[in-house]
Amino acid sequence: MKLAVVGTGYVGLVTGSCLAELGHNVTCVDIDATKIGELNNGVVSIFEPGLTDLVERGRRAGRLRFTTDLGEAMPGSSAVFIAVGTPSDSSGRADLSQVTEAADGIAELMDPGTLVVVKSTVPVGTTRHVADQIHQTRPGVDFEIGANPEFLRQGVAVTDFMHPDRLVIGTATEAAEELLRHIYQPLIGAGVTTLFVGIETAELIKYASNSFLAIKLSFVNEVADLCEAAGANIDEVANGMGLDTRITHRFLSAGPGFGGSCLPKDTQALLHTSQVLGAPSRVVAAAVDANRDRKRHMANKIAAAAGGSVQGKTIAVLGLAFKANTDDLRESPAIAIVRSLIGLGATIRAYDPEAVDNARAVLPTIEYAADAYEAIDGADLLVIVTEWPEFATLDLSRVYTSMASPVIVDLRNLYNPSDMAELGFAYHSIGRPPVGLPDDSP
Ligand code: UDX
Repeated sequence: MKLAVVGTGYVGLVTGSCLAELGHNVTCVDIDATKIGELNNGVVSIFEPGLTDLVERGRRAGRLRFTTDLGEAMPGSSAVFIAVGTPSDSSGRADLSQVTEAADGIAELMDPGTLVVVKSTVPVGTTRHVADQIHQTRPGVDFEIGANPEFLRQGVAVTDFMHPDRLVIGTATEAAEELLRHIYQPLIGAGVTTLFVGIETAELIKYASNSFLAIKLSFVNEVADLCEAAGANIDEVANGMGLDTRITHRFLSAGPGFGGSCLPKDTQALLHTSQVLGAPSRVVAAAVDANRDRKRHMANKIAAAAGGSVQGKTIAVLGLAFKANTDDLRESPAIAIVRSLIGLGATIRAYDPEAVDNARAVLPTIEYAADAYEAIDGADLLVIVTEWPEFATLDLSRVYTSMASPVIVDLRNLYNPSDMAELGFAYHSIGRPPVGLPDDSP
């Protein structure tokens, strides 16, 4: 099938190249000429495992094209996916201007009968608004509309697209459902659970899922604080909870708070929508509040580990991305934590395997090291913020001898406390008793 995808950001590019991999002829459109120029040369500027190969394969097979011209993409396309950004505005509401702009362009250029699919995460009701907008621009022209939210996690987005837990297809007509069934036939045929639902339901499944994940994380982070206060161990508590098949182990790792481009934004948008519709979500509001406070709490925890103050101390920070396997810094807890530590008088030397280039723009005054050991060399304190695999396999003897004082604050629980105590570190982690403190009896 010939398809168009509007927006070559994270979601659009993964969607477009995966749809090409499924056998469709896909044209991806973006107004950013530089990005399109790069993609036409096989250059993928975002770090996402597997994506560059997929783009290359699609291009070589002639099934994946990139253009700035919507007029090139729309003629002959049976469906067009809107995959543009929906950032939060200052009140937390999703800013839909890019969706509106895309819909205007599509309305003018689409063939009669085209299916317009909203892939971007949009507040409930938006897909119907897009349909109204298209009607107004092209009165009398038939078209179909669908809501098809994505559940792609950065770092594993290609796998998530090809092997989703479920496909959510929201439509109002049989014709639209049939077209989407056809587009996703390779996945549906392979046994992927597919929900055919109404448009509003599809939109809400996305927001409710991401908000529930946020609630789960804020909850487990609070339980970790409770473990610290009670002398319990969060890893064991989370394991004990996760064995309950109603809870599961996934999304139960306590840490520095959730970040990224989705959970913070989508919880805000759900709060806004629920206010507007008169069905306020107090539980989501509490999860958002707890997550906002958590970064300050982490900075205070680090200061306490430094003996009460980080003033004049050099702190090695390992990890700046909001999670491992991405170069994305959006809403990364590391940024808020580093800023707090700078405010408390610390000097920061940071390292991240992928996010340093992006970080220079956001945190211009800190030092950047070429690798983890350079960051750690001579530091008074080491803080692990992102769970990159290489930070879980550091040469700890080398770390011990190169630090000015062997104090580690591990916000991702990458190490075993008793091993760390044996090596001589003062080791602080999340929701587990600290070990190796000066007053610890051997
Ligand atoms: C999320 C959703 O998972 C995905 O379905 C949606 O489409 C986009 O938003 P993503 O933002 O890529 O994906 O990251 P995710 O892996 O979900 O992690 C979100 C945040 O939660 C990160 O900051 C991560 O470090 C944190 N997290 C996640 C934890 O602290 N503990 C966990 O157990 C899991």
